[in-house]
Amino acid sequence: MWRNRIHKQFVSVLILLTVLLISCQQQDYPTDNEQLSHEEQIVIRFSHVVGENTPKGMAAVKFAELIKQRSNGHVEIQVFPNGVLYKDGEEMNALLRGDIQMIAPAISKITTLVPEWSVMDLPYAFKNAEEVHAYIDSEVGQSLMKKLNDHNLFSMGVWDSGFKQLSNSIRPIQDVSDLKDLRMRIMPSDILAEQFLSVGAYPKRIDFNTVFHQLQKGNVDGQENTLTNITSKNLHSLQDYLSISNHGYLGYLLLMNNEFWQSLPKDVQTLLIETLAEVQEWEWQLAENLTTERLQEMEACSCINIHYFTDEDVQQWESAFEPVYKYYANNYSKKYILALPKNQSRH
Ligand code: LMR
Repeated sequence: MWRNRIHKQFVSVLILLTVLLISCQQQDYPTDNEQLSHEEQIVIRFSHVVGENTPKGMAAVKFAELIKQRSNGHVEIQVFPNGVLYKDGEEMNALLRGDIQMIAPAISKITTLVPEWSVMDLPYAFKNAEEVHAYIDSEVGQSLMKKLNDHNLFSMGVWDSGFKQLSNSIRPIQDVSDLKDLRMRIMPSDILAEQFLSVGAYPKRIDFNTVFHQLQKGNVDGQENTLTNITSKNLHSLQDYLSISNHGYLGYLLLMNNEFWQSLPKDVQTLLIETLAEVQEWEWQLAENLTTERLQEMEACSCINIHYFTDEDVQQWESAFEPVYKYYANNYSKKYILALPKNQSRH
């Protein structure tokens, strides 16, 4: 008899705990419109892999602050930098599963889902960030954006990191032949792999957060990245030579899980879009300024040999990279190449 009573009490406590647990979860992570009443806070977990002292890191914090202020705390963007929550290669799946709501991956990392986006990785496709922004705004750029919807992704904008430079610990890189046989870290993109293969180097796909370690262990000789990324991870401390090649653009797409995006009230969507447009302008300028500052610091520190590509060098590299364009045209689509600024009249 007493055993029966204890059993019943135990079952009631269990049911109560389960109900409590479910309601707590629903309150913390609303997933549909009915749960997003104005009394509840909307939490957007925004994960990224770089440091807080980079253009992306700083813009993420600014975006979160502005949204909190402008929504009176109703919408909270929680920023997780440095891959603390999800690393490279994990964050996209976490977004698609709905474990986080927002990411800002390098465009190169989107190419495993939508390979056509690797047009942005083509070496010397763009001369400056303005050309990149105009390309993304153009009809072909917008058709690339639409492809993201098929993967339950909603793109809210583009942030810059800047243009990539080459560093390594073996020799100065100026001539195309200098890259031969060097093992170079790349982001996961076939076009970046082809870029290095076309000049006789060995590309190795490595997560951003382990590049320092891999360079330290000597598993790769060099890498390509923007100056803000190189300095924020202190990669230059492990490298002897830096070439200011400006050979490729590195930028980010601001992505939300589309299902989550659609579940947000219209006024919240408007607030997010308008604020992001403002932060985007700010971030573009910041990326430019920080890049200039980092270069000045590296020039002043005498900690690495710096080589600057001349216009003639660039011409030589552009011809060497022609097979990469053919690879893209054969495997994806010529239309994205034809629309590049270098194939339109540049002013
Ligand atoms: C990299 O992997 O080098 C970059 O994508 C890191 C970043 O997000 O800027």
